[in-house]
Amino acid sequence: MQVSEGRAWQQLKLHCDQGMGSAKLSDLILEDNRMSAFSIEMEGLFVDLSKNRLSSETLPLLEQLAEECDLEGWIAKLFSGEKVNASEDRAALHTLLRQGFTKSETPKAPGVGTNTQTSKAKAVEGQLQKMAEMVEKIRTAQWRGASGRAITDVVNIGVGGSDLGPLMVTESLQAMPQVSSINVHFISSIDGTQTSNVLKSLDPKTTLFILASKSFETIDTLVNAETAVHWLEQAGLQKSEILSQHFIGISTKPDKMAEWGILPKNQLEFWDWVGGRYSMWSAIGLPIAIKVGMDGFYDFLAGAAEMDEHFQTAPIRQNIPAMLALIDIWNVNFLDIPQKAILPYDARLKYLPAYLSQLVMESNGKSVDREGKAINYQTCPIIWGEVGPNAQHAFYQLLHQGTRKIMCDFIAISQRDDFDGTSNENIDQSFLTQHSLSLANCLAQSRVLMLGDDAIPECLRAEFDNPFKHYPGNQPSNTLVLDELSPNSIGKLIALYEHKTFVESVIWNINPFDQWGVELGKLIAKETHAAMTSEEVCQEFDPSTRALIKRLKYEN
Ligand code: F6P
Repeated sequence: MQVSEGRAWQQLKLHCDQGMGSAKLSDLILEDNRMSAFSIEMEGLFVDLSKNRLSSETLPLLEQLAEECDLEGWIAKLFSGEKVNASEDRAALHTLLRQGFTKSETPKAPGVGTNTQTSKAKAVEGQLQKMAEMVEKIRTAQWRGASGRAITDVVNIGVGGSDLGPLMVTESLQAMPQVSSINVHFISSIDGTQTSNVLKSLDPKTTLFILASKSFETIDTLVNAETAVHWLEQAGLQKSEILSQHFIGISTKPDKMAEWGILPKNQLEFWDWVGGRYSMWSAIGLPIAIKVGMDGFYDFLAGAAEMDEHFQTAPIRQNIPAMLALIDIWNVNFLDIPQKAILPYDARLKYLPAYLSQLVMESNGKSVDREGKAINYQTCPIIWGEVGPNAQHAFYQLLHQGTRKIMCDFIAISQRDDFDGTSNENIDQSFLTQHSLSLANCLAQSRVLMLGDDAIPECLRAEFDNPFKHYPGNQPSNTLVLDELSPNSIGKLIALYEHKTFVESVIWNINPFDQWGVELGKLIAKETHAAMTSEEVCQEFDPSTRALIKRLKYEN
């Protein structure tokens, strides 16, 4: 039986048809005790769920849905290392990578965790130790390039899960006091533009590359790495120097790393039970650790571990990942809202929308259930977004007056003490004014999206009495407030979205840990590349692709 045929789903449908489907946020928000029923707090994080089109009657039905889908059982399976990724016959144990790290426990060095999955835990600790040694050497200028000069620049070559997480976190922590002066760059795209742009500004003798690939097979990454090797060779470096002093490899495939030439001392490993998009807690997080140091990285793990504990222990109404997920299910499957915009009001989070679009859509963009049967309900919404204050001057028009129903996650940081290098009080004050203006914009936007015309002050009503100035409102949103942006808080936020994604997959009865959808494209790209140089192969293609190959000047 599909979940949509179950009792809770049917009751939710009825609840929607009998009134909630057309309920107005401007009325709902006035309900008694709205904030106590629809907000959740944990250390360092406050989540406002009140601007959603649901009432206190919706909550028990959503809870019942979670129960019918055995959410509690699935959470236990995830953390205990059961093979929840059935189509690839493996566990999804990214939580093990941060188990035992908590903020309250003082010792945060490797080896102090309270991991129970002994052999896996030992392997995790071993790699963390090796990573810590590398980080120490790089940050203290003991890791030297071929000419004996210290490393000034680190370039991470990877794509998808081997790129987006570390890119997003290093960018968001750029203003931390412990940030190293070593520049960290990211190259992902196969077309070579990024590689060319990044390499142009670097000195080969002081540049260290990280070749990050879970499979060590991704052509995008391998081809960028080859270009980097040529660049180093052209600068006069010997292959042996390149491999020994300028390349670190991170993968689940030590044999493939060795075959490529990565020396054992420069290899960091992780394991097939860590999904690519869930991997930045492993050695894939090396760029983060280089930037904020190992203590910063342990704090990052601790933030995630705190969220793991919250997710496992908090009752459902107080469980942030579970509540956010159930509300999205309500929005997607009952209110028919197919899209979510991620809107951080802090430019340090500029890569968060891109990161979350991989995490969520690669996980839950599925149309068959865990048994491979086609499902008869919608799954993952389309996730997109942008830094909020910039997006206000771009696509918010559509949020306010378009014909589409869109839900939003607003993300705000309450305190900022990170503004850069000035002891000039006037400048500090002007940055703080900017910060409060940014927060005011965040609150103004979610309020107008909720209330529409009702947000217009009485004294301006006449001026807005015009169809072009009509604001329908009723667009639901969540607002997530982090006390500060720190390794701990970003760890917490990301683990929150990981678990929210998992809860949604449980309700939809899909496997969030495989990504077969992207495999065919990779295979066909190889064949298409062959068609670009062989008329015979090209002839077997459809007319559109043949014409495009010709237009792209690959005549045979
Ligand atoms: O093409 C998608 C994907 O398979 C992602 O799932 C993954 O994160 C990315 O490619 C990179 O893969 P790898 O780390 O194996 O190079």
